[in-house]
Amino acid sequence: MIIAIDGPAAAGKGTLSRMIAETYGFHHLDTGLTYRATAKALLDAGLPLDDEKVAEKMAREVELAGLDRDVLSSHAIGEAASRIAVIPAVRSALVEAQRAFSLREPGTVLDGRDIGTVVCPDAPVKLYVTASPEVRARRRYDEIVGKGGVADYHRIFDEVKMRDGRDMGRADSPLRPADDAHLLDTSEMSIEAAFQAAKTIIDAVLTRQIK
Ligand code: CDP
Repeated sequence: MIIAIDGPAAAGKGTLSRMIAETYGFHHLDTGLTYRATAKALLDAGLPLDDEKVAEKMAREVELAGLDRDVLSSHAIGEAASRIAVIPAVRSALVEAQRAFSLREPGTVLDGRDIGTVVCPDAPVKLYVTASPEVRARRRYDEIVGKGGVADYHRIFDEVKMRDGRDMGRADSPLRPADDAHLLDTSEMSIEAAFQAAKTIIDAVLTRQIK
């Protein structure tokens, strides 16, 4: 059983994916962390982000077991991740590792930008989680302030829009809903309501599979 969850920055995919994985006892992979880990390795080594060969080598060395969102959460790493994510050789190295992960038993939840379209096109459940840019920027803002940080809403809003443009506009695996994805607009939904909507969709598929 593979559950593919895609959507733009700060749409709530991460929280939703973790709740789903926990409820069904499935393994969870936040694929954004694989791009972030590759970017961090390049930044730490003082290497350029646009050298395809070097970036691919770093991508091949990423260990899925060691990914930690706390270590990889910085804004600079997120920006660098979206820049190296346009390199096809980096994508194919990371997609290979993500596909291997997706086959774990008894099931997996993968979240990212291209899970339903490229990584796991045959996944029986595909969700495309989105929210308006205003709501997503507000959620990012609240998250930073909630952790005691300082944030500027307008700047975050501009960054959300810029990240959307880069993720949706790239030639290789742009962010878009798979044709058979269920759209979940969480702009006016609590995380609990989004989870209930997702659960209804997943349970329907599981019931069909058992029959
Ligand atoms: O958490 P946030 O929305 O900032 O982003 P993330 O999920 O950690 O991903 C960081 C960047 O990696 C994204 O902006 C994408 O450019 C890239 N990414 C991707 O290209 N494909 C994926 N499956 C996951 C992330």
